[in-house]
Order: sequence, then C-alpha cells, then structure tokens
Amino acid sequence: MFGLAALASCLFLEGAFATTAPTQFPLTSDLLRELSEKVEGRLYSAVAFAEPCFTSFKSADCEVIKRNYLNETSRFDTFGGYINTQWETCQTTGEQCLLDWEDPTNPGPVSSSQTCQLGSVSRHFIDVRKPADVAAAFDYSRRSGVPLIVKNTGHDYKGRSSAPGSIGLWTHNLKDITYDPEFIPEGCVKASPGVTMGAGVQWGEAYQFAEAHNITLVGGSDPGVGTSGGWLMGGGHGALTNTMGMGVDRVLQFKVVTPDGKLRVANACQNEDLFFALRGGGGGTFGVVLESTTLASPPVTLQVYVVQWTNPEASLTHDLWSILIENGLKWADEGWGGFANGESAIYISPNLDTVRANVSMAPLIAFGERIKHDGIHGATLTVLEFPTWGTFFNAFAGDNSAAIGVNLALASRLIPKANFETAASRSELLAALLKAHTLTPGLRFLVSPPTSCPGDGSTSVTPAWRDSVYHITLITTWDWNATMGEKKTQYKLASDSISHLRAITPDAAYSNEADVYEPNHKVAFWGDNYSRLLEIKDKYDPDRLLDCWQCVGWTPNSKRFACYIA
Ligand SMILES: Cc1cc2nc3c(=O)[nH]c(=O)nc-3n(C[C@H](O)[C@H](O)[C@H](O)COP(=O)(O)OP(=O)(O)OC[C@H]3O[C@@H](n4cnc5c(N)ncnc54)[C@H](O)[C@@H]3O)c2cc1C
Ligand SMILES: *[C@@H]1O[C@H](CO)[C@@H](O)[C@H](O)[C@H]1NC(C)=O
Ligand SMILES: *[C@@H]1O[C@H](CO)[C@@H](O)[C@H](O)[C@H]1NC(C)=O
Ligand SMILES: *[C@@H]1O[C@H](CO)[C@@H](O)[C@H](O)[C@H]1NC(C)=O
Ligand SMILES: *[C@@H]1O[C@H](CO)[C@@H](O)[C@H](O)[C@H]1NC(C)=O
Ligand SMILES: *[C@@H]1O[C@H](CO)[C@@H](O)[C@H](O)[C@H]1NC(C)=O
Repeated sequence: MFGLAALASCLFLEGAFATTAPTQFPLTSDLLRELSEKVEGRLYSAVAFAEPCFTSFKSADCEVIKRNYLNETSRFDTFGGYINTQWETCQTTGEQCLLDWEDPTNPGPVSSSQTCQLGSVSRHFIDVRKPADVAAAFDYSRRSGVPLIVKNTGHDYKGRSSAPGSIGLWTHNLKDITYDPEFIPEGCVKASPGVTMGAGVQWGEAYQFAEAHNITLVGGSDPGVGTSGGWLMGGGHGALTNTMGMGVDRVLQFKVVTPDGKLRVANACQNEDLFFALRGGGGGTFGVVLESTTLASPPVTLQVYVVQWTNPEASLTHDLWSILIENGLKWADEGWGGFANGESAIYISPNLDTVRANVSMAPLIAFGERIKHDGIHGATLTVLEFPTWGTFFNAFAGDNSAAIGVNLALASRLIPKANFETAASRSELLAALLKAHTLTPGLRFLVSPPTSCPGDGSTSVTPAWRDSVYHITLITTWDWNATMGEKKTQYKLASDSISHLRAITPDAAYSNEADVYEPNHKVAFWGDNYSRLLEIKDKYDPDRLLDCWQCVGWTPNSKRFACYIA
C-alpha cells in the first residue's frame, strides 16, 4: 500500500560513491627447528586458557582468569582460549583445563585429582604475519604428519579451530584495515568501494572503522567474530543481510595461501574456482586466508523496534512468536532483520522512514503497548532511529551476544517462505518452535537470511538461504565435570529439539551454526554445490593438509577428530 514491495530488492547501495607474552617452543626436532627459522621465531608453545589456576588457584594470574572466564575478549586474545570451551578439551578422554563456568571461583576443577591438560588445544602455534609463515606450516605438516589447524577467534561451534596434538596457525594478529573508495579487484576492471581487512580483524573493530569512514560494512552481530575467517567463508549473516546480502555476497577478493604454499588472489577475474569455494564452502578447507576485501556501502538510517519483558511466560512467548510468524513474509519483503527469543524481539530496517516503519510494525507496537498496559514485569517497547549501523550496534550488541566460556551444543535450521504461506503452515511452524523451546529454552530467531537478496549465483552456500525467512538456533549446555554420557545426552537433546523443525522444512542449515552431528550435512550446508566444492578441494588440497569436522572432503577417520564423541 505504501509501495513497500518495491523495496524488496537487494540493495548494495554502490551508486552513492563516486569514488600476550607467549613462550618459545622447545625445538625438539630438526623439522621444528627448521620451521621456527622459517617463521622468524614466531613459533610458540600453547598454554591452556585456565592454566594459571592449575598452578595456583589463589595467584593474581588466576584471579584474572576467574574474573574473565566468561569474557569474550580475554578468550579470543589468548591462543588457548575458545568461546565454546569443550573445544579446548578432549571430550573422549576427559583431558581438559577448565574452570566451573557456572562459578569460576569454585575450586572443584583444580582439586588434587585434576591436572591441566591441553586437550584439543594445539601443542604449538605460529603467530602468522606473512604468507611465508603459512607456506612453512604446510610444508612442516606435510613432512611431519602433524595435523594443522587454523585458529582465528576460536568462535567456532563445531570445533573446527582446534585439534589434539596439532600445530596451529593463529591469524589473530593480522590487523591491517584500509578503505579504498575505488577498489578494483586485481585483474578486474570495475571499481567499487571496498574495505580490505587482515584475517585477524574482528567485527567490533571493522564497525568502528566503518563509523570513522562514514560507510556501512555488513557483518555479524557479535563484536568478537572474525570478518574474514570462518564467518565469511561459511556464509556470514547479520541483521542487515536481508536487504544488503551475506558476507559471501559482498566479498570482492581474497588473498589466500593454498596447501601448495602459493599465495593466490581469488576474485571474479582470477582463480574463480577458488573464489566460488571461499564464498560459502567453509573455513579451514581450501587455504589459509590472509586478507579479504569487502564491499562498503553508504551509511544507513535504521528504524529500530524493541519489545521485551523480564520473566519467561509461555503465553506471552506464544503471542509474540505468533505475531512474528503472521508477519514473517511481509516483514521480510519490507526489509526487516533482527533477533527474537522467548522474551524479546528487536527488528531493524534500513529501508523505511519513521512513518512507514510504524505502519509496518503496527502489530509489534500493539503487542508492546499491551504488555506494558497489563503490567508485565519489565515490559518495555522502544522505538528508535539510529543514523548508522555502528551506532545501533554499540547500543544493542550486548543484548544479543550468545553464551561465552561455556560447554555448549548448538543446533539450527533455515526456515523457508513455504512455512509462512498458509494459516495451517504458520500454526504448524509456531507449534514446532514452541515445542523445541520447551525442550531447549533459549531458542533464538535470527531474522538474518538474505530473503531479499537473490545473490549473483556465484556463491557456494546452500541456495536455501535465499528462500529462507529465519535462521533458528538453540543450545544445550553441560557442567565442567560432565561425564561423556552427559555430553552425549546434551548433543542429542539439541539435535532432537531442532528435529521438530527438521520435520517440517527442507534439508538446510547454516554450516557455521549447525548441529555438530548434522544428518545429511553435505546437502544441508551446500545443496547442489557440494560436488563442485569437492572437485575444488581435490584440486587445491589433494593431500588433505586442511581438514575439519563435516567440512568439504573431510576424512572422518583422521586422528585429528579423536576428541569428538562418536
Ligand atoms: C558468540 C557468537 C556469535 C556469533 N554470531 C554470528 C553472527 O552474527 N553471524 C554469523 O554468520 N555467524 C555468527 N557466529 C558463528 C561464526 O560465524 C562462526 O563461529 C565462525 O566459525 C567464526 O569464525 P572465526 O574465524 O571468527 O572463528 P574460528 O573458530 O577461529 O575459525 C572458524 C573456522 O574457520 C577457519 N578459519 C578461521 N580463520 C581462517 C583463515 N584465515 N583462513 C582459513 N580458515 C580460517 C578455522 O580453521 C575454523 O574452521 C557466532 C558465533 C559465536 C560463538
Ligand atoms: C574483558 O577482558 C578485556 C581484556 O582481556 C578487558 O579489557 C575488559 O575490561 C574485560 N571486560 C570485562 C567486562 O571485564
Ligand atoms: C557520509 O556519507 C553520506 C552519503 O554517502 C553523505 O551524504 C554525508 O554527507 C557523509 N557525512 C560525512 C560526515 O562525511
Ligand atoms: C511511531 O510509533 C511510536 C510508538 O508508538 C511513537 O512513539 C512514534 O511517535 C511514532 N512515530 C511516527 C513518526 O508516527
Ligand atoms: C560436578 O561437580 C559438582 C560440584 O561442582 C557436583 O555437585 C557434581 O556432583 C559433579 N558431577 C559429577 C558428574 O561428578
Ligand atoms: C550452486 O548452486 C546454485 C543453486 O542450486 C546453482 O545455480 C549453481 O549453478 C551452483 N554452482 C555450481 C558451480 O555448481
């Protein structure tokens, strides 16, 4: 009625631009000595994140660990720190160096029977600064048989950035970032505004840079996730993705060292096969990315609607989710993105002015007014306009961060348009979501698929993304001292819970935020693109120097997977 449908096309908004103190690794073999020389001494012993507490639980160093056990920054700034802590451990043997995430001051984990063990954390790692570092590591892994892993921020939900007894390539310190209003991918002709980021740059840093340069970068909803690593190569979604595309839609170029040790430029004009594979085929699979360049857009004015209350209450969750689902297709067409859970919803749009946004969001506003009127504890309705993504992000990033420093199993599902098309399919979807939420409280709606972005047909993520309205996630957790049986139970619970959605949707999930035991994962993550991805894997990495869990061309029997529960 206000011509909102005309806004449905994917806007790239291009036209507006005219123009820690680590220790040296003991060099116990000739191969390691040679490696250390080649990387100019940047080869270090890895230390488990909580190691100081196992030396002395009362030491000042341990106090810092206790205080920051759930602190994202402390974890990603430390090679041995991971966001989901079971990936620091060997789940099958119980070797670990964890504190109690529910109470890091609990001395239980360091009692005399416990020792600090590296578990799945690499034995040693290279602080990567140059292409030659990566080439030397590939050569070392090939000659020694020691598995290689790539760790950037350690956010991975599936354990793909650690492996027992491995050598790690840590890309965290590749922090260069530059903006070129007329970036031309090497060998191409057409210029677009682009930001080139070292592989260690994280979204919080990139958004700050974007604010300072009066541009928009489309990234994830957590400041600590890397811009150019697993996030990007697996797809990369955020609250602006509906209208502005996924990470893989916006990347213009990669610089990557392939397992033959060569530094390659991959873009639309050279190494196109690799470019396709890196745009959705997954991190840690085709090469080690040193930098990526991503499209920059002009600043976007955001209309923001937030409804929330404090105490979980099933009937309110039902009413909120029912409104979200009833309006799911319409809001997707009108450019909304955002997040919701059992007690809140945040919707944002870069497309609408305040008047049109209010019309579009009328049902959510009415719900917010209702719960305020009913005196629901902590009920608020907030309507705001932000001049940029960065100002919105600074105000709301904290509200959407997922669990940090916890043992957890995640599972997810992409929900296509078909589930919203009839009253019957909508109520079936609502019932499945509520059922899953009952089994695993904490279910989240990520309104982050590229529903209005058809893409250019040259990315390798499952095409199901383009037809989806929600990406739904849920988690389960377990204690620091859980037995293997208890861990298994929690993985299975996450899987069983998401199966309520599997039962009513096509086989599609986000590779980066999936069930560790995703059934039929090749189809779920890549759809028809898997066979081409496998050919590219065979071409660039015939010896499987890179390998990771449920990655393209993986070798499930490899010893690097010994710590996954079968
Ligand atoms: C708190 C939290 C919030 C999240 N929010 C979002 C979100 O908003 N949107 C979204 O899409 N995803 C999100 N994710 C999921 C995220 O995309 C994945 O965790 C992703 O794997 C992170 O990539 P990374 O490089 O930062 O992490 P890492 O764990 O370091 O690496 C992940 C994978 O990529 C590989 N890799 C990393 N760097 C390189 C490199 N330079 N070259 C080659 N391979 C590399 C690793 O080997 C590993 O396989 C979130 C995750 C968490 C824990
Ligand atoms: C988290 O850790 C970082 C550095 O390790 C520190 O600067 C920051 O203040 C900590 N955050 C909190 C909330 O304590
Ligand atoms: C930021 O960019 C926008 C659009 O590209 C322009 O209209 C505005 O004047 C710029 N602001 C500043 C402070 O440069
Ligand atoms: C939009 O709705 C909010 C909440 O009801 C109201 O405060 C605001 O004034 C409205 N804005 C416009 C432009 O109508
Ligand atoms: C784990 O430790 C807690 C105390 O921190 C204890 O209550 C619980 O019984 C332990 N669980 C197992 C499986 O040992
Ligand atoms: C990837 O999948 C899409 C959608 O099915 C298809 O259009 C495209 O041709 C595929 N690309 C390759 C290289 O297989």
